[in-house]
Amino acid sequence: MTEARERAVAAFRELRGGPPDGVAVAPGRVNLIGEHVDYEDGFVLPVAIDRSLAIAFRRRSDRSVVVASLERDETSFDLDRLERRPGHWAELVKGVASGRAGWDGVVASDVSIGAGLSSSAALAVAALLVDAAVSGRPWEPLEAARAARRAEAEWTGVGCGIMDPLAIVSGREGCALLVDCRSLEVRPVPLPDGAVVVVLDTGTRRELAASAYEARRDECRAAAEALGVAALRDASLELLAARGAGLAPATFRRARHVVSENARTLEAVRAGAPAFGRLLDASHASLRDDFEVSSPALDRIVQLARRRPECFGARMTGAGFGGCAVALVRAGEAEGFAEAVAGAYSRATGLPGAAYPCRASAGARVEAL
Ligand code: GLA
Repeated sequence: MTEARERAVAAFRELRGGPPDGVAVAPGRVNLIGEHVDYEDGFVLPVAIDRSLAIAFRRRSDRSVVVASLERDETSFDLDRLERRPGHWAELVKGVASGRAGWDGVVASDVSIGAGLSSSAALAVAALLVDAAVSGRPWEPLEAARAARRAEAEWTGVGCGIMDPLAIVSGREGCALLVDCRSLEVRPVPLPDGAVVVVLDTGTRRELAASAYEARRDECRAAAEALGVAALRDASLELLAARGAGLAPATFRRARHVVSENARTLEAVRAGAPAFGRLLDASHASLRDDFEVSSPALDRIVQLARRRPECFGARMTGAGFGGCAVALVRAGEAEGFAEAVAGAYSRATGLPGAAYPCRASAGARVEAL
């Protein structure tokens, strides 16, 4: 398949009758471990992947933004009169606009929508890159990650954590990124020797995820308050045992997930592939049983992945309730693994599963043509 970047540039030439000034490329991300902890100031370990969203763009002399998507429709807006259109894909493009300069753009994406690979954060970050380029502003990755998160909350009503945009702006070839979601420090960490990352797509998309996501966040807030800590990042299993007796049973389990997941993430950074794989397995169990954000399809694909001898471990990734899982697999065997798991999953469920190895890739950037 032609990459998003090439498709966006080719479509731009065709639609706009000339070359773009440049193309903004923002990778998707897959989180290896550290799930549902970013909004409690925890530690996460995502990788930027070699599937990305691209916007080919050209500065306009007026104050309009005209943006077409190869996957969705074309839309335009006036920078001086931003009107809301709830549910429309380009709300994030409006949400990140600084209002300094207008542009024409064409969007193409290799990141599946709603699959837990951060397609929406990739769109917000790519639009921020375009906005910075056409208005001649320097690129400040951390500022951009914050702005993307703000736009998502204000323009789509989803109160996400900082992990997704921060992973997208910080990607590094061959590395995962250990993010301290309190200090926002990002440390590139090489992937375990002899292992590659494989994304397993269940073909199901999360429904009602936004309300469940909010509910989990609220439970975590309530737990932190009851435990007397600023965020669950500051709690330990000992503290939970000592002070958690008054918590509702579900709230107790949510807190136990966050506390144990933070410990697993920090352990994973030091682990070789086999130990890393066991941590992935434990993370999945905790997300399924304590945090209750997995789904039958996710449980199934994870189970099928683990049956393969070349698999070190696997778990659901992202917000959950559908979408993708991630597996750590012996290098050199990832293609065969992906094919076998996707086939077994489709036969078992009748759903169109897919699986593909991913390379850890560079972060969001503008490329000249
Ligand atoms: C979504 C959010 C992230 C994070 C994950 C769960 O992807 O956007 O901020 O909370 O869910 O780890």
